[in-house]
Parts: sequence; C-alpha cells; structure tokens
Amino acid sequence: MSDGSSFYITTPIFYVNDVPHIGHAYTEVASDVLARWHRQAGDDTWFLTGTDEHGQKILRTATANGVSPKEWADRLVATAWQPLLATIDISNDDFIRTTDERHEKNVQLFLQRLFDAGYIYTGDYEGFYCVGCEEYKQPTDLVDGTGQYEGVQVCAIHSKPVELLQERNYFFRMSDFTDRLLDLYESNPEFIQPESVRNEIVAFVRRGLNDLSISRQSFDWGIKVPWDDTHVVYVWFDALLNYITAAGYGSDDARFEELWPATHIVGKDIARFHAVIWPAMLMAAGLAVPKQVFGHGWLLVGGEKMSKSKLTGIAPNQITDTFGSDAFRYYFMSAITFGQDGSFSWEDLSARYQAELANGFGNLASRVIAMVIKYVDGRVPDAGTLTDAEEGLRALERTVVAEADAAIERLAIQDALTSIWQLVDQLNGYITVQEPWKLSKNPEDRARLETVLATVVHGVGTLAVLLSPVIPEATTKLWQALGGVGDIADVPIRQAYDWQGVGRVEALAPLFPRVETIEGAA
Ligand code: MSP
Repeated sequence: MSDGSSFYITTPIFYVNDVPHIGHAYTEVASDVLARWHRQAGDDTWFLTGTDEHGQKILRTATANGVSPKEWADRLVATAWQPLLATIDISNDDFIRTTDERHEKNVQLFLQRLFDAGYIYTGDYEGFYCVGCEEYKQPTDLVDGTGQYEGVQVCAIHSKPVELLQERNYFFRMSDFTDRLLDLYESNPEFIQPESVRNEIVAFVRRGLNDLSISRQSFDWGIKVPWDDTHVVYVWFDALLNYITAAGYGSDDARFEELWPATHIVGKDIARFHAVIWPAMLMAAGLAVPKQVFGHGWLLVGGEKMSKSKLTGIAPNQITDTFGSDAFRYYFMSAITFGQDGSFSWEDLSARYQAELANGFGNLASRVIAMVIKYVDGRVPDAGTLTDAEEGLRALERTVVAEADAAIERLAIQDALTSIWQLVDQLNGYITVQEPWKLSKNPEDRARLETVLATVVHGVGTLAVLLSPVIPEATTKLWQALGGVGDIADVPIRQAYDWQGVGRVEALAPLFPRVETIEGAA
C-alpha cells in the first residue's frame, strides 16, 4: 500500500568520451535497487539517469576520431550507454542527454535568471584546468608527475598534466553562499552522506569558497551563454542542471513541483560538485536544495580506483555474459558496503556466486518447489498446527521485512541484504532439521509434512518479493514457479510476508546454474 511518499533518485550523468566500465555500472545498480525498492513499496518513484555530452574532453575525443562531437555522442549513447542499461537490468524512468533540447533551452533559462538577479559577473580567470576532471584546479590539488611526466605537476586523479588557462570568463558569485551552505550542512546532517564525505566537504567549505568560472571562450562545444554567444557554459554548470531540466524545470512547472527535490547518488569523487556548487546554484535561483547527496566509494582493482584511462577498466558484460545480470547486481550490492571503497576480484565474485546465490538461495528455491511437486503433487498445502519452529520463521519474515526496509531508508543496501539472508539461512536450516523427505515416507506424518511445506513455500515467497529489487530476473522466474499472483514488482514490499499465491507450484530450472569457466579471470 502506498504511503504516498515521493522518491526522485538520480545517478550522475556519464561522460560519453568512452564506453562504460563496472564502476559506472555499480552506480547504476545501486540507484536502481533503491528505485525498485521504493517503487515496489508504492512510493511515487522517478529514476533518472543519462549522459554528459559537452565539454573539452568529449570534443577532443571526437576530433581524435575524426567525427563531430554530436556524432560521437550519438554513437556512444546508442552503442554503449543505452545498451548498458539492458545489460544490468536498469529500470530508469527517463534518460537525459545534455544535448537534448529540453535541457539546453532550460540551462539558458536558468543562467539568464541568475544573470538578471545579479549573481553573474565578468572576470579574468588564470589558473590550472584538468580536462580529465573538467575541473579548475588549485595548486594544492596537484602532485609531482612520474614516468613520462617526471618533473611536471599533474592532476592527482588522472596523473596527467593540467593546462594553464588564461581567459575572460563569466563568474558565479558562489562565495556569497558559504554561510548558507554551512548552515545547511549543520541543520540537516543527513544532507551529505556518508559521514566521511560529509566531514571532508564541511572542512572544504569552512576554508571559504571562491567564485566559480562558469563559461569558456576557447572552444564552442557547449550550450551558448544566452546573452553572449561567444561563450559556452562550463560543462559542470551545464551537467548539474540535468537533474531539474529532466524534471520539468522551465517546461512543466507542475511536474517539477511534484518531483523536486531529488536524492543524488554519486561517486565520492564528484560529491563536492553536488554538495557545494549545486546547492549554491539552486539557492541563487530560489529553488529547493537536493534532498540528499550520497557519495559512494570506489571500485578498486589491484588497490587502485578502477578506470579506463589507467587501463584497469572491466566492461560490465565481461561479468554478465558468464554470471548473468542478477549475479552482477547481487555481488556488488552485497560484497561492498555502500559508501566505502571495495575491491573487485573474479575469485570473490565466483565464490560468492556459488556459496550465496547457487547454494544458498537458488538451491533453497529449487528444493522447495521440487518437494511440493514430489510429495504433494504440486499443490501448496495449508499449514496445520504450528510449532515454535514455524512461529519463529513467520516472526522472522516480519522482522526481516522491517529491518531491510529501514536499511534501504538509510541507503544501507548491504545491511538490507544481510537481514534478508537470515531468512535464507534459517529456511535452509529448518529444512535440514525437519527432514520432509522422511516425513513423506510415513502417511501418519502427512499433516506435519504439509505444515513444513506450507512454511517453506511461504518463506521462499517472502524472499522472492524482498529480493526482487536486487535480482529481478531470478525472482520473476521463482514467482511464476511459486504460483505468485500478478507481477512480482507490484507486490507491496513492506508487506512482503502477506504475499498471495494461486496454490500450485510449477517446475523451476536452476536459478543460478553452475559456472564452469570464468571469462576474463586472471
Ligand atoms: N559527467 C560527470 C558527472 C556529472 S553529474 C552532473 C562524471 N562522469 S563520469 O563518467 O566520469 O562518471 C561518474 C560516476 O561514475 C562517478 O561519480 C561514479 O559514480 C562512477 N564511477 C566511475 N568510476 C568508478 C569507480 N572506479 N568506482 C565506483 N564508481 C565509479 O563524473
């Protein structure tokens, strides 16, 4: 049943200079699990993702490939970024591209409003710029280069030299918002999460903010500044606005009112843009700040942040081709605490697939269905007299639903899975203790057999409903096999223990078949 809450959730919009890797897919999956959970809870949910297509980084890649930046972006969106969503089963409601007219037009509207309100002025920018980050850098952001860049200062993130910029630009009076931002962080401690990211950002803003250069003159791949078409809008200023242009800002005010503000899921590397620049922009425009900015950790490969530029990138389909999209989703959500860094390894993925998905959950589901078919002709029996064991499992179903929902509320996806897995383990343990295969041999034990089977069918159905946001494909198959009523994604997740079935089960092929070869494994 809906409690009427609205839940607008976003991913960062991704640069189209290159194809996606599992770091991008990780952000998508986490946001998708949260969106699916809320949608299934009956909350009024809207899930936005998309692509960031302007700026020098994309212009240079396109030029190096001999095509226009728009052609390049179209190609990458069609062949890589849109297909990614199918590869990992993303249920986004919208996909925004910063080259969409709905975006470009309303970025100009927003900027004109800030200009008219006196928040924009002309100034001279002189300093460093990292095209990899698309960010202006302070000398303190640079480190000594190594190897081919020995002797020069490089960007600490990309390990590549920065460029010296000297340009006449438009500036946004961001420094005016230092105190209001600090008040926001203090009065709403949940605004930036997790704590580590929050602390870093608060310390950064306490040192005082500079005004922000928000236009560039030396190239033209961007949105034109409305009152001066010799400038294009700085790519981050343009990109951040996607969250409101997609929600109807400037084009459908009623819808915008309904949707905004959003919960932003971003990598911790870009949390500062979202928790400092973005709310300052919104404050200047007189709009509400985001509901929350959550900066998740990095996927590490060999101890370093995985990235294509450092050649440690792994394509999502290298994993899904072998293990499937559900395993991809489950693995990254259960193995890594959301908000902390986590190391990826093929061995860990493979071990968890086998232990948790194939042996733990998958085998439980198969056994339960097979026993109902074998011992009671596929008809789900009614439970008779309940003992403490059955009462305990029924109570656990309720506890797990409440715990998992509370965990999702604080974006602790891993905790939600840990709670749910108590039910997997307890059901497996219950079957071992009750030994239905023995009960089936003795006609006198028929009533007891029926109670045991009714109990495990009920437990597995509750698991299917609860796990549907994380492993939608397997749970859909299981739901059908259990004779669940309707589409599993419509079964109210906060009352998962009250699910309804038609009373018959059907054969179920293994949900997580044995994986013999691990493609791409070292
Ligand atoms: N275009 C900007 C975002 C603009 S949002 C208004 C951008 N794009 S990006 O393509 O570089 O990717 C951004 C996001 O990808 C990161 O914030 C993070 O969520 C995800 N990741 C990229 N590499 C990652 C890892 N190695 N690990 C985890 N997430 C990673 O920045």
